[in-house]
Amino acid sequence: MARILGIGNVVLDTQLFVNTFPIEDSEQRAEKRLFAIGGNVANNLQVLQQLGHDCALCATLATDNAAKRLKNALEARQIDLSHIQRFIQGSTPTSYVQINNQNGSRTIVHFRDLPEVDFDHFAKIEIEAFDWLHFEGRNLEALSGMLNIAKTFLSHQPISIELEKPRDGLESLLTQVNVIFTGFAYAQASGFQTATDLIDHLQSCAPQATIICSWGSEGAWYAAPGAMPCHQATQALPKPVDTLGAGDTFIAATVDALIAQKPLAEAVSAGNQLARRKCQQLGLDNLLDPLVTRKPIANIKHITNSRATVVPAPGLQHKVVLIKHDNEVKAYLNNCPHQDVPLDEAYKIDINPFEMTMKCSVHDAFFRIEDGVCVEGPCWREELTPVDLEIDPETGAIYIAEQ
Ligand code: FES
Repeated sequence: MARILGIGNVVLDTQLFVNTFPIEDSEQRAEKRLFAIGGNVANNLQVLQQLGHDCALCATLATDNAAKRLKNALEARQIDLSHIQRFIQGSTPTSYVQINNQNGSRTIVHFRDLPEVDFDHFAKIEIEAFDWLHFEGRNLEALSGMLNIAKTFLSHQPISIELEKPRDGLESLLTQVNVIFTGFAYAQASGFQTATDLIDHLQSCAPQATIICSWGSEGAWYAAPGAMPCHQATQALPKPVDTLGAGDTFIAATVDALIAQKPLAEAVSAGNQLARRKCQQLGLDNLLDPLVTRKPIANIKHITNSRATVVPAPGLQHKVVLIKHDNEVKAYLNNCPHQDVPLDEAYKIDINPFEMTMKCSVHDAFFRIEDGVCVEGPCWREELTPVDLEIDPETGAIYIAEQ
């Protein structure tokens, strides 16, 4: 276990889940709303804490309700908040995030009117007590001084930085760090077409640093000091659930592996794997639970063609309806496309064995069991969302299929 200090931002995210990305100047209803901890470094620490490290956050908070909510949520995740800087004026930074249910993409509108951590606040922290310092590449006013004292007072502890957006003067500070995390957004905003072009450029700014550049579904490129860039691919996910925080998860898992002194290629691979895992679930909690996707949700011997069985499915947004059809088990999310409520909201799901349909108990929409299409009712022609299953031929255990 390492003691890790993260310096950057904490944000209250309001996440709105939408079925289609909104058109400008239009109105649409969100399917779901969640509040969550956001901000890159706060996310990094949430994951690092789950990976067994002792994490402290250095960021600013106001004194409003959003700050209270964040404080409670961070404390519940055992993040040490003793280095938070509070401001009476201003409001806690907030992000309004639209998550597209079709592909898990996230579009963020951020608001802040709160100052960032000032140098004097940072200078009072006993940084020598930490094993790793990770900075967000922002807050240029104070960052230069912070990196200077970190470099001066730390003897062996690595300093890492994330470059998300280009900022004036940022690259001139990179000689002070050991590890640089960057990615597609930084490359794009800086005019680099490829990860290797960006790494070449950063190597000229910071020849002493290890550089790791994540590139979404294409995996990541990385280079040790003075070495040529290498690539670690990742397996693309056909249908990500939620990509928000995937990059932050990548950084956390890579830092964790570097702390464990794994070779760089292995560390980047660990980052890719956990980021991929994150995209298969909502939020960052319980990321390491290996049973989340592989716990059987039911057994085939309990599924019949005369009754719909509704079971919880960890990692999915809704329960799952299971029913036998032609010796196959059909599975759909228990979510009526008419009003986004469970099919059994009012009563059980009635089955018509002659028509081979099942009925939503709320307004009597009939869905074909075979393909989930509504054949009668208020959401005619709309479809239930199918769920892919894997069934163990020996035990009959039913699992949600790995994506
Ligand atoms: S909510 Fe299912 S038919 Fe109206």
